[in-house]
Amino acid sequence: MPIGRTLLGVLCLLAVSITSVHADEPILIRFSHVVGENTPKGKGAEMFKQKVNERLAGRVKVEIYPRSLKFNDNEVFMALLFGDVEMAAPSLSKFRGYAPALEVFDLPFLFDDVDHVHRFQHSDIGQQLLQTMLPVGIEGLAYWDNGMRAISANKPLRVPPDADGLVFRIEPSTVIQQQYTELGVVAVPMPFSQVYDAIRTGVVDGQENSWSNIYSRDIHALHKNFTELDHSFQGYMVITSQDFWEDLPDDIRSELTAILAEVTEEVNRMAAEQSESDRQKVAAAEGVEILEPSPSDVQLWRDAMTPIWDQFQPEIGAAVIDAAVAAGNAQ
Ligand code: LMR
Repeated sequence: MPIGRTLLGVLCLLAVSITSVHADEPILIRFSHVVGENTPKGKGAEMFKQKVNERLAGRVKVEIYPRSLKFNDNEVFMALLFGDVEMAAPSLSKFRGYAPALEVFDLPFLFDDVDHVHRFQHSDIGQQLLQTMLPVGIEGLAYWDNGMRAISANKPLRVPPDADGLVFRIEPSTVIQQQYTELGVVAVPMPFSQVYDAIRTGVVDGQENSWSNIYSRDIHALHKNFTELDHSFQGYMVITSQDFWEDLPDDIRSELTAILAEVTEEVNRMAAEQSESDRQKVAAAEGVEILEPSPSDVQLWRDAMTPIWDQFQPEIGAAVIDAAVAAGNAQ
């Protein structure tokens, strides 16, 4: 047999065996996030991994990368598109470059509570928002809760003028940035992994976050003055790359969808509990005071912050804002 043909045969055999090795390997889902394992998102990712490893054993394997071990939230979108991770759950405040309509979740004092947020997320428009990044190749799979936000600083913040002149760490949302500009606060967008050091070294004086993020990052060890403002909701969208998701075998995609629905229900139940229990742990920490503003003080914060709604209406869309407001009345 001529040498060329032998070589061709060997190469073909090699190619077949390489393909079959790959075919036998489980599909890998790398899930990247930025918070600790003991938070609603951290527990949700772990629960997703366990259920997938049980129910799709040998076919799908999940690896979790918490605490920004792989990527910060601003990097993870490109990482998904480049196939460096397969799933992530960034805060809804981090989608501006991809889905400006999602900034509706940051509009101050729009949502009364988490139930109001859920009614909006379950509405037609809320569901459509999950698909709004398909043109750039990102698919929204679910919304996960964390909780309503509190603010904290190195001094009591009872009424808006108390914040004037302070520097706050914020998530990278222009709505949140403008909300603080209205108060005379310099708002600095910064990854979650840097918050603790930024407060410790005095780079910032204040911050806002959900109770589980405050507690898990030990912010109560640095700040002693918290105000339970509940002015906005901190939650997540679980996302994947559309290419990855559409290429999955149908039965695997539908089992992952079913698992995610179960996990979502459980994450949201845990988030409600943890928001309360972590708030209590912060309250019990040495020297901490949590202000619960009176209705008339809340009204002052509302009056100071809500004028920005009009400014963001063109980019978020009037229909989206109207649907979110209507979900508050639809009880
Ligand atoms: C933050 O950056 O404060 C949060 O988005 C972190 C998170 O993922 O909850």
